[in-house]
Amino acid sequence: MTALTLAGLTKAYDGAATIRGIDLEVQAGEFVVLVGSSGCGKSTVLRMIAGLEAVTGGAIHIDGRDVTHVPAADRGVAMVFQSYALYPHMNVRENLSFGLRNMRVPRDRIAAQVAHAAAILELEPLLDRLPAQLSGGQRQRVAIGRAIVRDPSLFLFDEPLSNLDADLRVRMRHELARLHQRLGSTMLYVTHDQVEAMTLADRLVVLDQGRISQVGTPLEIYTRPANVFTAGFIGSPRINLLPAKVVARQGGEMLLELPGGLRFAMPASEAIAVGAAVTVGLRPEHVRLEAAPKSLALPLTIQAVEALGHSTFLYGEMAPIGEFRAKLDGHHSVPVPAAMTVYADVRQLLLFGADGEAVPL
Ligand SMILES: Nc1ncnc2c1ncn2[C@@H]1O[C@H](COP(=O)(O)OP(=O)(O)OP(=O)(O)O)[C@@H](O)[C@H]1O
Ligand SMILES: [Mg+2]
Repeated sequence: MTALTLAGLTKAYDGAATIRGIDLEVQAGEFVVLVGSSGCGKSTVLRMIAGLEAVTGGAIHIDGRDVTHVPAADRGVAMVFQSYALYPHMNVRENLSFGLRNMRVPRDRIAAQVAHAAAILELEPLLDRLPAQLSGGQRQRVAIGRAIVRDPSLFLFDEPLSNLDADLRVRMRHELARLHQRLGSTMLYVTHDQVEAMTLADRLVVLDQGRISQVGTPLEIYTRPANVFTAGFIGSPRINLLPAKVVARQGGEMLLELPGGLRFAMPASEAIAVGAAVTVGLRPEHVRLEAAPKSLALPLTIQAVEALGHSTFLYGEMAPIGEFRAKLDGHHSVPVPAAMTVYADVRQLLLFGADGEAVPL
């Protein structure tokens, strides 16, 4: 069943187009994550779905009902914000029940809903505390609890973990995944965080300046980005995007030339003609220190090394193209600055046409 449909959704602030036509269907029980750079319109989309912001054009359906012009309180949606926005003078129990009391829900029903949320989020020992007496993670759990007690048909999360420190973020991420499994609810979740996006999402929606760049499972998006934008947005460290020109084709291969004159053969694509300008994508983790058959040799100047123990990041310059990033498994001692040659298996390269769209190989 379709839980949420966005059809031709647009938003302009003072005439400036911010959301430029979004079409999306979210199935009941799905966990959909919305990612995109700061200012691309993620919160605006969520706020329009919640009814906190009027749409400029298009329609929103929740569980098959057109709610485009329905007041926020009647949409059956609960939103959790980055700032927990708890009432400081109310204890946890009162914070959890406040919304329901306002809606004049019967007292025993409120008690049952609060008990249910407190049990799921392990808040029972904290029910009599004030927000000031809670840790950041506990406060965020209360904010999520306030959404749960309303038993919404759709949960909206706007970067709910971004105020937490790294350890707590990981724990809360796991708790959210578990919460989704237990409730089986439909969730739409906005984040900047690559790991949250990759691990929480059934499907990822990548937004680029108010438009959808790509929708797919995290792995589809990672392994087959539809365009240069998505390739550059998903993946950390960032993918290397090298401009190139097709100089010849023969058999199943084509010969590419990078600025500076370096030439290499890679599998040919039917869609690319000789003379075409293309962009070659090379994920940092596909870079090797040893040459192998079918490998492309890239001369670099290494400018910075980050050794994390389990992996080593190299940041360098590939003249005349520019910055280059590599991620190596394990520990490698690399002096800085240093000239070195790294290798890439041409079968792992991604290819994009002059229009920035992925070219099937
Ligand atoms: N009330 C408003 N009036 C005018 N412009 C607004 C308003 N709210 C948002 N904007 C603009 O709309 C654009 C999208 O904002 P939005 O908050 O949706 O971005 P976002 O993707 O959530 O960014 P972030 O990741 O930084 O939270 C921004 O350029 C923002 O300045
Ligand atoms: Mg935002």
